[in-house]
Amino acid sequence: MIQSKVAGVGKYIPEKTVTNDELSQIMDTSDAWIQERTGIKERHYAKRYEESSTTLAYNAAKIAIERAGITAKDIDFIVFATITPDYYFPGCGVLLQRMFDMNEIPALDIRNQCSGFVYALSIADQFIKTGTYKNVLVIGAEVHSFGLDFSNAGRNITVIFGDGAGAIVLQPTEKPGQGVLSAHLHSDGKNAEILSMLNPGFHCGVWLPEDQKPVKSDKPYADVFINQEQIAKHDFYPQMDGQAVFKKAVEKFPEVIMEALTRNNLETSDLALLVPHQANLRICQFVQHKMKLRDDQIFVNIQKYGNTTAASIPIALCEAWEEGRIKEGDLVCLASFGSGFTWGSALIRW
Ligand code: UT7
Repeated sequence: MIQSKVAGVGKYIPEKTVTNDELSQIMDTSDAWIQERTGIKERHYAKRYEESSTTLAYNAAKIAIERAGITAKDIDFIVFATITPDYYFPGCGVLLQRMFDMNEIPALDIRNQCSGFVYALSIADQFIKTGTYKNVLVIGAEVHSFGLDFSNAGRNITVIFGDGAGAIVLQPTEKPGQGVLSAHLHSDGKNAEILSMLNPGFHCGVWLPEDQKPVKSDKPYADVFINQEQIAKHDFYPQMDGQAVFKKAVEKFPEVIMEALTRNNLETSDLALLVPHQANLRICQFVQHKMKLRDDQIFVNIQKYGNTTAASIPIALCEAWEEGRIKEGDLVCLASFGSGFTWGSALIRW
């Protein structure tokens, strides 16, 4: 039976470090507040006009490809997760294919926010298992800093997000019990707007309650994708009801991790490492406590990078591997929760 194994991991963190104190000079926040509520000490920002999600991904992918012992020409499928794409369309997948001058392989873009990487991995896994592809590049990359609200109105979100990219190469293995054992994906759109960036968009207010609908225009070609009213209200930034997201996250993380373990007749004590999406240190600590995991069974690096949404799991996975915390035969669980809501887990025997 063919399974997919992680053959190479890579990450790229932009050089520029931004501390909490630096943020407190431009908005009404403080190092104490940010550390107490999120655990974050600093994050990294990409170089404007020089870097993008695709260029960060390129740097991470180069390392993953090299560590997998192949070249870019061997990649036969790209799955690219991001919510901060270079262009509205086409997606970053084709831009990455172009940067590497790869063969005319398929490139798929995934828009599942913080769960993007787990969704991407699960899709790649299916294509490997069916024997369709042999070297799949799975990416999570973000440049949040180019589109955040640095006024006080955006402080609850802006202080948590950071930029970065992580990549893995998945390859087939026939070694019994090795590789991705299972992946579990979920969504619940009831709270889609609770953590969202709604504009620019093609919705024309269709999801808004009657009393908040936009004034209808008689113009044949109305300016509805992004209009002056939205620009005046700065209604084009990410928005979040942090407490609502927090409550759901601490419910769904343990649930989806247990789903993966139970499916494989395994227990939390079998886990060598849990690599959760780095949303908030308090969420990670809650999950660790609830699941009775020792400190060495969970990987946390949000202190250094903030929340990098789709990039956070592959960055953490790569860093854990580089630090020697993942060895052959180890049971590793990836778990995510985020906007949508979407959540998921993947269990990997390394
Ligand atoms: O990755 C995708 C999923 N995202 C998440 O999982 C995020 C989940 N949520 C969270 O991590 C937390 O809710 C936050 C870190 C975003 C916020 O922490 P909180 O403890 O839930 O704070 P809060 O939103 O309840 O706000 C508490 C107070 C408010 O002031 P008042 O109303 O009590 O006077 C906020 O206005 O803190 C204020 N506040 C800030 N103060 C200083 C909000 N943001 C900031 C800030 N600096 N950056």
